[in-house]
Amino acid sequence: MRIFKNLLITGGSGFIGANFIHYLFEKTDFSGNIINVDCLTYAGNPNNLTEIAEKHGNTRYFFFKENVQNYEAIEKIFTQFEIDCLIHFAAESHVDRSIFGPKDFIETNIVGTFNLLEIARKVWGSREDVLFHHISTDEVYGSLGETGFFYENTAYDPRSPYSSSKAASDHLVSAYFHTYKLPVTISNCSNNYGAYQFPEKLIPLMILNILEGKPLPIYGDGKYIRDWLFVDDHCSAIWETVKRGKTGETYNVGGENEWENIKLVNYLCERVAFFTEKDPNEVKKLITYVKDRPGHDRRYAINCDKIKNELNWRQSLDFETGLDETIKWYLNNKEWIENVRSGDYLKWIDKNYTER
Ligand SMILES: NC(=O)c1ccc[n+]([C@@H]2O[C@H](COP(=O)([O-])OP(=O)(O)OC[C@H]3O[C@@H](n4cnc5c(N)ncnc54)[C@H](O)[C@@H]3O)[C@@H](O)[C@H]2O)c1
Repeated sequence: MRIFKNLLITGGSGFIGANFIHYLFEKTDFSGNIINVDCLTYAGNPNNLTEIAEKHGNTRYFFFKENVQNYEAIEKIFTQFEIDCLIHFAAESHVDRSIFGPKDFIETNIVGTFNLLEIARKVWGSREDVLFHHISTDEVYGSLGETGFFYENTAYDPRSPYSSSKAASDHLVSAYFHTYKLPVTISNCSNNYGAYQFPEKLIPLMILNILEGKPLPIYGDGKYIRDWLFVDDHCSAIWETVKRGKTGETYNVGGENEWENIKLVNYLCERVAFFTEKDPNEVKKLITYVKDRPGHDRRYAINCDKIKNELNWRQSLDFETGLDETIKWYLNNKEWIENVRSGDYLKWIDKNYTER
């Protein structure tokens, strides 16, 4: 098992990165330092880590507002903190935004990853006691029909600028392993849900819109299928891979939990109505079909037998429990929501969902 002292987390102020930092401090026996490098785009939120900064700031937790494309700055942090493991979350992550403006996706997801790989290669040289773990997505595999699953050896077939940029970064990470023997691991996961998720993504968007009585936009016929993974379960999968994954290998991580979007939104209406004592039938009237996303992948489904068999990883929660926890988190964190809502980022969402 690998034991690391100084973890460089990129994108630690975003949804999954912040959950991962909470997870390390609160649910593992990790005793080293965490250095979070995040340039705080619209999706990065320091409030995701308030308690961590208060409790561990400048003792075991260090934050740098920095862009992963800045070679000199990141190299300095790498050396100063004697980084022995890099876990790379930072990315532009929203498919819709990649369709309207792909440039940032190319720059951060591809060039940014390349930059980090170069720094790791230079600073680490031929060290074998280090690790570059890259977080990726099942969207690199393309779209499935009614049957079948994505496996680790499924051919890449990305369809959106977002998934193409992630595919390119995966290939670069893999190339650095084969070409330069850089110790790397990659995980490709399905759709995450849970606390601290920016409310442009389906589940928090729907919860917040229900609470505000706003329309619940459903793309196309609503029959798109996604596999939902509780973010804490993703965090435990990443940590197991970092500790015990085989270098050069990819691990798929999924919830084994496929839902049609429209069924999920109907279910969310019922649960949010239950917690807020609203009439579920009235809430469901907010469902509004909107113009479909171009190149919308029909179905994603992940086979995650490899990480289960090799690293003994398991999901901890059923979806119904995970969703209830998530809804309660949004209900109990009004200040966080107000803060996110006070930015003008959400205007983008209102502007881009056009009723059919
Ligand atoms: N959310 C999901 O369901 C999901 C599913 C599969 C894979 N992923 C992958 O997981 C990772 C994290 O996703 P997320 O949902 O937490 O994303 P997010 O958008 O919530 O957070 C991304 C973070 O990266 C930071 N960032 C963006 N560009 C940066 C740059 N150039 N330099 C430094 N920091 C930068 C942002 O400020 C933000 O804090 C991404 O690599 C994403 O592709 C996410």
